[in-house]
Amino acid sequence: MMERLQKIISAAGITSRRKAEELIQKGQVKVNGKVVTELGYKVTDKAVVEVNGIKLNIEEKVYYLLNKPRGVVTTTSDEKKRQTVIDLLPKDKRIYPVGRLDYDTTGALILTNDGEFANYLMHPSNEIEKVYIAKINGILNGEDIYKLTNGIMLDNVKTSRCRVKLLKKDRAKRQSIVEITIHEGKNHQIKKMFEAIGFEVLKLKRERIAFLNIRNLKSGEFRILNPKEISKLYVLSKHK
Ligand code: URA
Repeated sequence: MMERLQKIISAAGITSRRKAEELIQKGQVKVNGKVVTELGYKVTDKAVVEVNGIKLNIEEKVYYLLNKPRGVVTTTSDEKKRQTVIDLLPKDKRIYPVGRLDYDTTGALILTNDGEFANYLMHPSNEIEKVYIAKINGILNGEDIYKLTNGIMLDNVKTSRCRVKLLKKDRAKRQSIVEITIHEGKNHQIKKMFEAIGFEVLKLKRERIAFLNIRNLKSGEFRILNPKEISKLYVLSKHK
């Protein structure tokens, strides 16, 4: 497949598309040994692209949706030798997770070797929805829901507006099941949001990322996202 040079460079994960354009215009990029300064220049994934003399790894792009099990870390390697999400996927390409789920969190996780796509999905301005189901210790009341919805101060920054639905309450056990939809991805965001209003998250599952849910995937199972799904995710973007 032919792609624009700046897209190939940013997809290799080394820089943004705008910076890649600057590198090309400054003559720091070579294709098959020749300097190319033309921005729209198209290359195949067989081309040898060098940025400042360093060869890019332009592999075919892959996109996976994994139903992450509990007890697996969302990194590419773990110093404590725990199982990682990478261990659950084919090993033929260097892929990495888009964002993080905690060790004890389950559910939808996208993994890819397309750096540009990963950055796009993670950027809060693109407002990609993430839907979580949380089991919490206690019963949420209307005021709690109001606070979560309108934003909570976490480390001096207010979380954006989000949607909160109380799905179930168990008065005997003093527990609730809550659906919460956010489009940011701050570290431990859901747990911290509940903690800030006095609740502990006992169990957490990411049910959906945009339109991608994990209903047909058992724990630990994955599937390949198809090109239609990838372009649909791009179309959802608010700021392309
Ligand atoms: N928020 C959390 O607190 N943990 C996760 O794993 C994901 C979102």
